Amino acid sequence: MKSTFAGIDLGSGEFADGVGDALARVEDLLLTELSSGDEILTEAATHLAKAGGKRFRPMFAILSSHFGPDPAGRDVITAATVVEMIHLATLYHDDVMDEAPLRRGTQSANSRWSNSVAILAGDFLFARASRLTSTLGPDSVRIIAETFAELVTGQMRETVGARGGDPVDHYLRVVWEKTGSLIAAAGRFGAMTAGAAPERVESMSKIGDIVGVAFQVSDDLIDITSVTGDSGKTPGTDLREGVHTLPVLYALQGDDAGAQRLKELLLDPATGEARQLTDDDEVDEALRILVDHDGMARARQRVADMADEAHAELAKLPEGPARHAFSSLVDYTVQRVG
Ligand code: IPE
Ligand code: IPE
Ligand code: MG
Ligand code: MG
Repeated sequence: MKSTFAGIDLGSGEFADGVGDALARVEDLLLTELSSGDEILTEAATHLAKAGGKRFRPMFAILSSHFGPDPAGRDVITAATVVEMIHLATLYHDDVMDEAPLRRGTQSANSRWSNSVAILAGDFLFARASRLTSTLGPDSVRIIAETFAELVTGQMRETVGARGGDPVDHYLRVVWEKTGSLIAAAGRFGAMTAGAAPERVESMSKIGDIVGVAFQVSDDLIDITSVTGDSGKTPGTDLREGVHTLPVLYALQGDDAGAQRLKELLLDPATGEARQLTDDDEVDEALRILVDHDGMARARQRVADMADEAHAELAKLPEGPARHAFSSLVDYTVQRVG
């Protein structure tokens, strides 16, 4: 699934050319860095980068850089590349955890080779990302280290489950930690490396928080609605793993016939906790119920509310092509199907 970032309207002219050029430079740096180890690592380490992907986080960093005096300078390219490398590294590890067979429309590293190869390739990406971040100075190293810790905390929190706490609160916290934190870091990094004023850097980070959470909730809707091929991933993966995302949590709050059946399918009768689904027919049945359930509509509405919040934050920024592109990126986040 080769896809560059086609989802957003950059307008035309100098701004669009500048963003396109910056993304191309990120691409070069990414592949150079990932190919820079021992030959024995290169095929696995470049596997997912070469498979495609939206490059949403580099785009977020590059657009944010346009709110500083030096957009798309060398440090901006480095920062945008680092966030994609961290993202990619977590994808290698996430697919091991989720036993996911497909990623970016191709075999995941764990399914193409093995869990060991996928874990080591992810580690190599982290190592290369750290090395590259060190060229940006100690503040940047700290930001990436903190972001990475948040992301891992989210993955851990998702793995251990809500443990009796409110499941929707638990879910939203996980989603910010595992996905929002890195998109916020992309905004912060892009603005910072372009020399933006501290208040602007904070605004870009805040917009990243909101858009990042909306992005993940959208992704969780796609896990239910997509047919294989559209998203480059296998639908129903969350249910198979016993991970209950927002539409599922909302649906389970109901007591209509669909909700009753979902409870039978998705909850362990002894403990009432989420259970893993191993039977394909059960996964298909649960997905069919969910697609038309009010839980989906409520989750969609929640994403739409987040988009409104992001647009309200954007309205505080100076008008111009960067703000326009961001606005289009927010709309893309809520409308995307893959
Ligand atoms: C996938 O991220 C993991 C999530 C946080 C939802 P993306 O949807 O950005 O995946 P790629 O980079 O385009 O493959
Ligand atoms: C994505 O987790 C977040 C990270 C990789 C940190 P998910 O498991 O929800 O994402 P997909 O659906 O595999 O892309
Ligand atoms: Mg996953
Ligand atoms: Mg996961």
